Formats: sequence, structure tokens, C-alpha cells
Amino acid sequence: MQQGLKMIVAGVAVAAAAYVAYAFVIARPPAGADPDDAAQVALGRQVYARECASCHGVNLEGQPDWRNRRPDGKLPAPPHDAEGHTWHHSDDQLFALTKQGIAAFAPPGYRSDMPAYGGKLSDAEIWAVLAYIKSRWPRDIRERQDTATRRAREAR
Ligand code: HEC
Repeated sequence: MQQGLKMIVAGVAVAAAAYVAYAFVIARPPAGADPDDAAQVALGRQVYARECASCHGVNLEGQPDWRNRRPDGKLPAPPHDAEGHTWHHSDDQLFALTKQGIAAFAPPGYRSDMPAYGGKLSDAEIWAVLAYIKSRWPRDIRERQDTATRRAREAR
């Protein structure tokens, strides 16, 4: 084979290998937040105390009067316990909301105090904090949210 042709073939092989590696990474089944995994929950508890408790409450109780917008138009932080609506969302939605922030899913110009944690927390830390939040829900709420998570993944 000519030298030039060999290099093209090698280049194509490298590109194909990179593509397969990339496809593997994005096609991998999503990681999860397991409230029965004691180690994950312990890490999540620390992350929650450090990053989330200041707004969502040390006991996941949210900010006072959380259903009503403030005079500045922004919503207070909702609770993450069973009183809030966090459990209405699937694991993957909660992961995306935490990683990308609310603004990524809201109409243009929507203002929110909820930060995007993508640059600050690793994916493992985000799953861990969600595992901790889920560990604080009563069994029936957990089961309903598990169903939402499963349905959302099956629908993909
Ligand atoms: C500076 C305050 C602040 C901090 C810190 C904060 N949040 Fe929030 N969060 C909010 C506000 C405010 C909302 C309501 C968003 C809106 O609609 O404007 C919210 C909403 C959310 C929601 C959507 C809840 C739902 O029921 O729709 C999730 C999930 C969430 N936060 C997770 C987290 C996690 C996890 C952390 C810590 C890693 C965190 N937040 C830290 C202020 C905060």
C-alpha cells in the first residue's frame, strides 16, 4: 500500500475507534441515585449540607412561603422533602435540573436563584445528593418516584 493511503486508513481506524468509545459513553445506561446505598447517601448528605441546605433547608424544608413568587419575581427554594414537588420528577430530570440549573429548562429570560452545578459538582456527587434526598422520603413516595424514573427511561 502507498504511504499516503496507509495514513488515511490509519486515520479512519482511529476516528472509528474514537466514535465507538464516544457512543459507548453516551449510550451507557444512566447512573443512578440509590437511597439504599449507604455510601452514596453518606456522600450525598455532605454535599447537601455544603451546597443545598442554605436554600433548600437543613431539613429539606425549603424556604418560607415557597409557593409564591417574591416581589423580585423569583421563586423561593421549594422543599425537597415529601411536602415539595421534587419527587414528581424522574431521577434523570432531577439530575439535569441540578446539573444545568432551572434556566436551561425555563422560557428565555426566566430568572431563578437555583444555580447550575455542572461546573461545581461531579456527576457522582450530583447522583449522591439525589440519593440522599430520596433517602429522606417515605416508602410510598419513593415507590411513586421510582415508577416515574422507570417509565421515563423506558420511553427513551
Ligand atoms: C441559592 C439558592 C439555591 C441553592 C444553593 C440550591 N437551590 Fe435548588 N432551587 C432553588 C430555587 C429558588 C428553586 C426554584 C426554581 C425556580 O423555579 O425558580 C430550586 C429548585 C430546585 C430543583 C427543582 C425542584 C422541583 O421540585 O422542581 C431541584 C431538583 C433543585 N433545586 C436541586 C438543588 C440541589 C440538589 C442543590 C444543591 C446541590 C440546590 N438545589 C441548591 C434555589 C437553590
